[in-house]
Amino acid sequence: MKCLITGGSGFIGSHIVDLLIEKNYEVIVVDKDLKNTNPKAKYYETDITNYETLKKIFEKEQPDLVNHQAAHVSVPNSVKNPTHDAQTNIIGTLNILRLSKEHNVKNFVYASTCAVYGNPKTIPVTETHKLQPESPYGVSKLTCEYYIPLFVKNYVILRYSNVYGPRQPPKGMIIPTFMQKIKNKQPVTIFGDGNQIRDYIYVGDIAQANLKALESRKKIRINVGTKQGTSVNEIFNILSELLEYQLKPNYESERKGDVQKVILDNSKLLHEFNYTPKTTLKQGIEKTILKS
Ligand SMILES: NC(=O)c1ccc[n+]([C@@H]2O[C@H](COP(=O)([O-])OP(=O)(O)OC[C@H]3O[C@@H](n4cnc5c(N)ncnc54)[C@H](O)[C@@H]3O)[C@@H](O)[C@H]2O)c1
Repeated sequence: MKCLITGGSGFIGSHIVDLLIEKNYEVIVVDKDLKNTNPKAKYYETDITNYETLKKIFEKEQPDLVNHQAAHVSVPNSVKNPTHDAQTNIIGTLNILRLSKEHNVKNFVYASTCAVYGNPKTIPVTETHKLQPESPYGVSKLTCEYYIPLFVKNYVILRYSNVYGPRQPPKGMIIPTFMQKIKNKQPVTIFGDGNQIRDYIYVGDIAQANLKALESRKKIRINVGTKQGTSVNEIFNILSELLEYQLKPNYESERKGDVQKVILDNSKLLHEFNYTPKTTLKQGIEKTILKS
């Protein structure tokens, strides 16, 4: 099977590429910035907002499957520049969807996010929870969820919780940002009181969920999380202990668009794909430290 992965040179995408190569898929990557590469995959350095170039790639490669990870991923930057966020996340996705339809791809897997739920009213959040994104990023991701069924026959929309692991660029993401500061013995800043709860999932488990999704032929939206909540202060404490860091964090005012508490229910993932994330937070953080 030939799978085209957008954003396959990024943090999550590159782990999916490695897993698919290991499973003997033929892998084609489209990414505007080649960073993490696998010698067995084929790369096109292209922006997904460029329809004409994408069209040529689809015509040449004729992929059976599409896995769409490329996106503008920062919540704070989406608040600062919602137009750029929408150009990549909405227009770019529409380009990929139009071509996936035209080439009759067998299955389309989309990287969505728990940000589509906004500040959840009930925890753990199930897929039937009201959709009320609170940032332009959440809105752009949710908009694509609505487009997908209009274009492709089979699709799996994976709503990831907070993903971490090796190759994650800091870009304001908690685990790599803290890790970098702590390793360099620099002060760490926590926005808000540090009691914000997130559901942290290891990237290897996200890659496995993507493989299950690509191998299926369904029409579903599904949470991919651990059903475990951890506060920002707890993450700071785990990293401080593992890296023997003595300084106290600095607390600054909360960032706009951040939600207070998200934990994803993952029963549907188990039910539909017979899969539950395997890596505990401590194991995942240890692997991340070792491989970073
Ligand atoms: N990291 C998380 O915690 C998390 C949580 C929920 C959902 N997601 C989703 O997972 C996907 C992957 O995120 P990630 O954390 O690996 O981010 P990332 O920034 O490491 O990867 C995104 C990749 O997309 C590429 N890209 C961005 N804009 C592009 C464009 N216009 N054209 C072509 N390529 C482009 C980037 O170069 C990058 O390689 C995204 O769709 C994101 O919304 C991530």
